[in-house]
Amino acid sequence: MHKKITIVGSGNVGATTAHWMAAKGLADIVLLDVIEGVPEGKGLDLLEAMPIAGKDIEIKGTENYADSANSDIVVITAGVARKPGMSRDDLLNINLKIMRDVTAEVVKHSPKCILIIVSNPLDAMAYAAYKVSGFPRHRVIGMAGVLDTARFRAFIAQELKVSVSDVTAFVLGGHGDTMVPLPRYSSVGGIPITEMLGGETIARLVERTRGGGGEIVKYLKTGSAFYAPGAAVTEMVESILEGRNRILPCAAYLEGEYGIHGLFMGVPCKLGERGIEQVLEIKLTEQERAEFDKSANAVKALAAEVEANLARAAAS
Ligand code: 2OP
Repeated sequence: MHKKITIVGSGNVGATTAHWMAAKGLADIVLLDVIEGVPEGKGLDLLEAMPIAGKDIEIKGTENYADSANSDIVVITAGVARKPGMSRDDLLNINLKIMRDVTAEVVKHSPKCILIIVSNPLDAMAYAAYKVSGFPRHRVIGMAGVLDTARFRAFIAQELKVSVSDVTAFVLGGHGDTMVPLPRYSSVGGIPITEMLGGETIARLVERTRGGGGEIVKYLKTGSAFYAPGAAVTEMVESILEGRNRILPCAAYLEGEYGIHGLFMGVPCKLGERGIEQVLEIKLTEQERAEFDKSANAVKALAAEVEANLARAAAS
């Protein structure tokens, strides 16, 4: 029997994620949204592409959560995207209400699913989904690091004129302006980039990676990136469904790892059948540690806002 994935949100990110997944024939797909007709239309369009892609999967667009029942994985992309001049954090209040409602519905229909959160501000939205779902931490995962490292890898490959396949990269911390790309753990064919690129070039690529989402928003003006985010979710889903145990950077709920308690932060994770099978810890230099702590403080402030908002909602 095919596995089942529900994608909540049929906007650019949701629909493009469905597209990447369908092209690989990863699982049956339910595309769910509240905007009447849009998930049905996009779902049907994608279904009609399957004879060309040669993939025998079911694809259904719907406004009804009952259609998502017993999904193995639910990807939540619902929410608004930022506009030029906004930070991801500016989206907190509007997206938090959406995340609360969506998570509650999802959990009702798929109590055993693995949640992958994509909406921004990512680390705070993952925190909200974790709290609302009551799921164990290995079943709530934020998508950010795979996207951020893909951007870093693309820039490194362009700079050195080498295949993207040979470039690996490492980014820690929150999915925001304080994210921490780690050059000494980023390599080309196993050679650390610190051996191949000068300090100024590396600093330029790191800055471009930090601002990678904003660079796209500036061009698009009415929304944010979706091709690379969709591809990133697909890579994570593939590792989970196929039990591949890939080591991918994800936002995970930390319980003491990296000295952090009770926050979602981007860290290297082993992704397998149970979701996050393991959080991998590495030693940080003093400077990396300082940058990681700065990032954690930014995430902490948003998590406190989420906590206060959830408490208000519970009391009302
Ligand atoms: C990005 O970095 C949308 O946060 C996403 O492009």
